[in-house]
Amino acid sequence: MSKEPEQKEFLFTASDFERIRTILYQHSGIKLSDSKKDMVYSRLGRRLRATGLTSFQDYLARVERNQSDEWEAFINSLTTNLTAFFREPHHFPLLKEHMLSLRKRPLRLWCSASSTGEEPYTMAMTMIDAFGSYSPPVEIIATDIDTNVLSKAQAAIYPMDRVEKLPPETLRRFFLKGSGKNAGSVQVRKELRDLISFRQLNLLDDCWPISGTFDAIFCRNVLIYFDKETQLKILKRFVPMLEMHGLLFAGHSESLYHAADFFKLRGNTVYELAPHFRHSRTKVASSDPNGLS
Ligand SMILES: C[S@@+](CC[C@H](N)C(=O)[O-])C[C@H]1O[C@@H](n2cnc3c(N)ncnc32)[C@H](O)[C@@H]1O
Repeated sequence: MSKEPEQKEFLFTASDFERIRTILYQHSGIKLSDSKKDMVYSRLGRRLRATGLTSFQDYLARVERNQSDEWEAFINSLTTNLTAFFREPHHFPLLKEHMLSLRKRPLRLWCSASSTGEEPYTMAMTMIDAFGSYSPPVEIIATDIDTNVLSKAQAAIYPMDRVEKLPPETLRRFFLKGSGKNAGSVQVRKELRDLISFRQLNLLDDCWPISGTFDAIFCRNVLIYFDKETQLKILKRFVPMLEMHGLLFAGHSESLYHAADFFKLRGNTVYELAPHFRHSRTKVASSDPNGLS
């Protein structure tokens, strides 16, 4: 007996999907492939239910309305936030070694797609370990487009299964065990939370709400969602934000060969400024006794 095609709760046409792709791409740079159609239906279907709307057309009209209250929820629903403590672990010994080798203090680090916080907290753990102190001379800025994940990152409470693979010593040093209603969870210690300031930042926006330069920028596993042109625009903007000796950390599948004018490979998916940027900054610094450039 042939099976009846499954009846969907909401009509979801090819043109609805196209419209969603266009809005998302224009606002966030995220490119959705055809294979994401079911995921989009399921995630935005939840928003239709939550808003009481019965068609994707009405929902998208609401999203597109100026100053729409649904805008944030739309973006939050469509981001992919997969992350982990000590993800791509080879980066952290290098971060530690490089930061210790610099004479500059305090150090400034930027995590530019921080998701639910595991990555910037791992950076904080690495710096505490490097300086042998719970108050290392380090400031970490952690940003993301998605306000939901930023709230989770700030709360710093994680279910036990997110940390169970960490060595017991790391757990003991950096986490507190939850009790009462938080039983089965852990919270990152306050000393680590105090090192990080979280804020919303869309890498596609013309104006980024951060200033100054950084000794390291983490931009891991977010460029993959953008096309090459968008990636290049963002990478170019990192150049003046990186100290002459600064490092840029990319994700495991994010080769920056197309940005060779700006960045040179230094190690396994770790980059430094291309030689001509390093040289031009050395010249400016040596001709300016105040070190102003
Ligand atoms: C797969 S997670 C990567 C998290 C972390 N960097 C890691 O490697 O584990 C990608 C993150 O990029 C964020 N993101 C996507 N588009 C963005 C944009 N235009 N600006 C800033 N963050 C963005 C998402 O919200 C998500 O939290």
